[in-house]
Amino acid sequence: MTDSVEKIVSSYKSGRREDLIPILQKIQEAVGYIPEEAIVAIGNKLKISTTKIYGLATFYDQFRFFPQGKIHITICNGTTCYINGASDVIEAVREFVGTEPGDTSRDKLFSYEVTTCVGGCHSSPVILVNGEYHAPVTPESISEMLSKLRVVIENE
Ligand code: FES
Repeated sequence: MTDSVEKIVSSYKSGRREDLIPILQKIQEAVGYIPEEAIVAIGNKLKISTTKIYGLATFYDQFRFFPQGKIHITICNGTTCYINGASDVIEAVREFVGTEPGDTSRDKLFSYEVTTCVGGCHSSPVILVNGEYHAPVTPESISEMLSKLRVVIENE
């Protein structure tokens, strides 16, 4: 277990289930995501099954269970984006990154997730690249943008 996870979990009292969300928030803040080892440690500490922790944590959109790539892409698949071609956008990103949503590319440079409305419907389809809006996008414009970004981060 990483030091930060251990420190955070041990700073809470045993068996207090109401501490689950604050602990998860602190771990994500410190590590960037919620590793499996943290789920196990929290389960032991709070006396909650890991299945229940995953169930509760996935209910909140804010938690991630995988380390993000240097470039993290959020693809909106809300109703308006869906109507305006989000499926093709998702396919273009999947092809570029080479993984399923929620995974990180082998070189750890790219990761992506598909989400619901991100509040930019008027110019859909929308993606966010490291939190920055890009819209409207096309499969072609995304491939071009990500290829350029790859060159930039590989040369950093
Ligand atoms: S549905 Fe995609 S921004 Fe609203």
